[in-house]
Amino acid sequence: MTSITITRPDDWHLHLRDGEQLRAVLPHTAKQFARAIIMPNLKPPVVTTDMALAYRARILAALPAALQSRFEPLMTLYLTDNTPPAEIIRAKESGVVHGVKLYPAGATTNSDAGVTDIAKCYAALETMEKSNLPLLVHGEVTDPDVDVFDKEKVFIDRILTPLTQRFPNLRIVFEHVTTRDAVAFVTEASRQVAATITAHHLLLNRNAIFQSGIRPHYFCLPVLKREIHRQALLEAATSSNPQFFLGTDSAPHAQTSKENACGCAGIFTAHAAIELYATAFEQAGALDKLEAFASFYGADFYQLPRNIGHITLNKEKWAVPEQYEFAGEKLIPLYAETSLGWKMV
Ligand code: NCD
Ligand code: ZN
Repeated sequence: MTSITITRPDDWHLHLRDGEQLRAVLPHTAKQFARAIIMPNLKPPVVTTDMALAYRARILAALPAALQSRFEPLMTLYLTDNTPPAEIIRAKESGVVHGVKLYPAGATTNSDAGVTDIAKCYAALETMEKSNLPLLVHGEVTDPDVDVFDKEKVFIDRILTPLTQRFPNLRIVFEHVTTRDAVAFVTEASRQVAATITAHHLLLNRNAIFQSGIRPHYFCLPVLKREIHRQALLEAATSSNPQFFLGTDSAPHAQTSKENACGCAGIFTAHAAIELYATAFEQAGALDKLEAFASFYGADFYQLPRNIGHITLNKEKWAVPEQYEFAGEKLIPLYAETSLGWKMV
C-alpha cells in the first residue's frame, strides 16, 4: 500500500497549554484533526464552565487564518474535591464542555488541585451520571508506596472498579491506558467504559527511556511499560473494539524543562500524530483498522457526529525536525531527527 485515505480523525486527549505556547502547538493538531478533547490542567486549572468558555475562545483566536473554522476544541472541566453539582449542570448546559477530568492530586503535571479522595466527588459524579457527562480519568494512584509501574493496575483495583459499581451509568474514558490490566478491565467493563491509547505507548516500551543513558524525551505519565503491555495495547487498538480509540496525550514541555535534574513528564507527538499511529498500525499489519480507531469510535462514544472530510497519508519518508519553536524556547518532538515512513498530504 502506498497511500491511505481515511475520514478526518479526532484527538480525544490533548494538551494545548495557553498563550504563546498554545499558538506554537495548536497548528500541528489543527492541520490533522477536526476536533480534540482539550485537557484542563492549566495553571490555574480550568475548574468552571466560564473558564472553559474563555479558554475555548483563546484557542479559537490562536488558530492560524488558514485553519479557522476547520478545528473545534472540545472543552473539559478539571474535577476538584469541591466541584459543585451546579457547576456540572452548567457545564452540560453550555454545550461546549464534553467531559470532566479526574486527576488524582499529585499524579502528573499540574495536578496539585486534583482530587484527594474520590468520595468527596460523589455528588458531582452522580450529577454527571444523571446528565450524561463523561468522566475522563487519569488512572494512577499517588500512594508513594506503590511501584511506579504498578500505579495503573492498583488504581483499577482501588478506585475504578468500585467507581463503576457505584455509578453504573456514568460514562468513563480511562485515558491513555498503558497496561494489559487496563485493556482487560475495559474489555470486561460495560460499554459505558472506553479508553484512549497514545501513539507512543503503541510504539515504545520502557527500554526507550534507558537506551545507554536516561532519555527524558521518552518520559511521560503514565510511564512507558514493558513489552507485554505494549503488545496488549496494540492488540486492543487493532481489535475493532469500539471501546478503544485515539488520544495522543501530546504534552509539550520546553526542552529546558525536559532536560533537567527533575524533568517534566510529557511527550510531544502532535507534529506527526496520525503518521505515528499509521506506523504502529502498519507494524501490526492492521492499517485497515486505523480509520475506525482514529475517526469513528471516539465520536461514537462522545455521542458526536463522525467527521465528513478526509485526509490522505502517503508512504513517504520524511525527517522529523530536530526541534520546533515554543514560545521562545525549543520543543523536542518524538523521533526528532529520525525519519518516519508515512506523511500526511
Ligand atoms: C501531561 C502534561 O504534561 O500535561 N503529561 C504527561 O506525561 N502525559 C499530563 C498527563 O496527561 O498526565
Ligand atoms: Zn494527558
